[in-house]
Amino acid sequence: MKDYELFTRDTKAFIYGGQTAALQRMLDFDYMCRKDSPSVVALITPERGGYEKVFWGTHEIRVPRLRSIAEAVAQFPDADVMVNFASQRSAFDVTMEALATDTIRTIAVIAEGVPERQSRIMAATAKQRGKWIIGPATVGGVKAGAFKIGNAAGTMENIRMAKLYRPGSVGFVSVSGGLSNEAYNIIARNTDGLNEGIAIGGDAFPSSTLLDHLLRYEANPDIKLLVCLGEVGGTAEYEIAAAVKSGRIKKPLVMWVTGTCAKVLPGQVQFGHAGAKADSAQETADAKNQALRAAGVIVPNSFDDYHLRIHETYARLVQEGVITPAEDFEPPQIPLDYNQAIAEGRVRRPTHFVSTICDERGEVHNYAGVPIDEVIEQKYGIGGVIGLLWFKKDIPVHAREFLEMVIQIIADHGPAVSGAHNTIVAARAGKDLISSLVSGLLTIGPRFGGAVNGAAEHFLYGLRNGLSPREFVEAMKRKNVRIQGIGHRLHSLENPDERVEIMKNYAKTHFKRTELLDYALAVEQVTTKKKTNLILNVDGCIGVLLVDLLKEISFSDGEIDEMIAAGLFNALFVLGRSIGLMGHYFDQKRLGEPLYRHPLDDILYDVPKQPEKVG
Ligand code: ACO
Ligand code: LMR
Repeated sequence: MKDYELFTRDTKAFIYGGQTAALQRMLDFDYMCRKDSPSVVALITPERGGYEKVFWGTHEIRVPRLRSIAEAVAQFPDADVMVNFASQRSAFDVTMEALATDTIRTIAVIAEGVPERQSRIMAATAKQRGKWIIGPATVGGVKAGAFKIGNAAGTMENIRMAKLYRPGSVGFVSVSGGLSNEAYNIIARNTDGLNEGIAIGGDAFPSSTLLDHLLRYEANPDIKLLVCLGEVGGTAEYEIAAAVKSGRIKKPLVMWVTGTCAKVLPGQVQFGHAGAKADSAQETADAKNQALRAAGVIVPNSFDDYHLRIHETYARLVQEGVITPAEDFEPPQIPLDYNQAIAEGRVRRPTHFVSTICDERGEVHNYAGVPIDEVIEQKYGIGGVIGLLWFKKDIPVHAREFLEMVIQIIADHGPAVSGAHNTIVAARAGKDLISSLVSGLLTIGPRFGGAVNGAAEHFLYGLRNGLSPREFVEAMKRKNVRIQGIGHRLHSLENPDERVEIMKNYAKTHFKRTELLDYALAVEQVTTKKKTNLILNVDGCIGVLLVDLLKEISFSDGEIDEMIAAGLFNALFVLGRSIGLMGHYFDQKRLGEPLYRHPLDDILYDVPKQPEKVG
């Protein structure tokens, strides 16, 4: 790299700080310049290591996060630039550490408010080590077609409009980052574009001055025209005038010192930058523009003519054959970030998931549209929540109470039933809560706990087809199908199931009609003639009463059939019985029960002496 160069297309850089937006902007610039690889090789983030996922064009890549400058320079000795986003409190120490390395040559110090004494020390140290600092209080700068510092040059749209994706003939330097972006566009519209642009930062003591960079451009054969924007306050512009007078700067220089409006404002005006205040007549913008003009710098009459002077000078240099206008090309498109495109309504895509029962996106999560805080305030209860999340309806109180009653009475039926047995065996085998619970739930099916659905389906079949109870029982017998909801191992006419009695009484008191219950009870009259344990069991009772209830709260037959097909009726048994199964699990854990092994004397061993020979 030549002495006058700070950045090339091969420049590799660190970002100090977790500035992922700046990282993505630098990589998007690299991509737009049609570079083969990203310029940023690592983030230096002492707070954490790992990596950052960012886009390289349309693909994602990982950029390492390293914990120190020492680690970074050891891993990437070719990286000679560091964009230092450290805060004003640590910017000095970080910059001095970077200056002390052998490999980092150029540092952009972004922080504002760095004490002047520290700025002077940084500047002196950089000069002593033959290194460069841009800033403090800078947005950085851009080497067109090669490298961009952090957030310099604004949006990708601005970069595209200013043609910064390829080098032109103009070297630009200013104090202000914001005015730089404006100047890049002025230069793009009035010349063949920028070659390099630097904003030195608005502090009173920048670590590299306007003149420093103009002299770099003077030495760079690719730069034919110098453009500069000075600022009220300080005397840096007089150094430029002297350099032009002495012939250190020979290339045409178009320059304007901003802040001429200060003369019409009362008193001393402090403009935005720390250094932007004229402490004497000499430091006013007018005085400096006058001195520059006298030294042979091309100075417009006002900022309004700045672009005219730039254009005239450029045109003359082209006519004289000094400048061969750079060729343009259409740079690659930088894809719009998806979230930004969504926010701007510029992209849409079909969803792959649908939820019609809840929405967590708003301020308050809602169940079927009812905000969760309202669910609690208005005491929906478990029954009301089931109504919202299962039925998508705000069901009446007696319906909520029925559902809660069912959950309570089927929560458990002792350790001997299939579900509890499996949960207990799994718990004693050392399985965890969920495994033991699932082990019990897996026994729920057509014979145990899972007949609620079937019962609704079977009894509706008999009722809808106008079958008398006897015709229905015979029809199922002919099909060799057990009527779901009929029969019990323990309960019978002689030993009725109290749970069924409770539900029947509740329904008779609170339901307007119990058409399907009545039909099922009439079937029970038939089945118990054969065996007294073929009663309407708890599954059957839940199933038929749920149908009666849903009809009462205006669910159509079609909706009820849909719920039966989805197995929704069994869900009530699953929900309730899970309470009991978990109880059994905790019970076994508390007891510290050992592994269960079934007693041998409870197993019939009927094994042939010799396996049959086949084939
Ligand atoms: N429909 C018609 N006939 C039946 C039914 C029924 N639901 N249940 C039993 N029978 C008949 C059998 O076909 C058998 O007849 P057969 O002697 O002519 O062959 C006789 O009754 C005895 O059958 P078993 O299976 O020995 O009776 P058991 O008392 O063991 O069955 C059970 C109890 C498993 C619940 C049984 O009645 C059944 O399968 N019912 C349907 C499923 C059901 O509702 N399960 C829920 C139970 S409650 C709960 O789990 C919470
Ligand atoms: C239960 O609720 O688990 C029972 O009705 C089943 C059974 O076998 O007792």
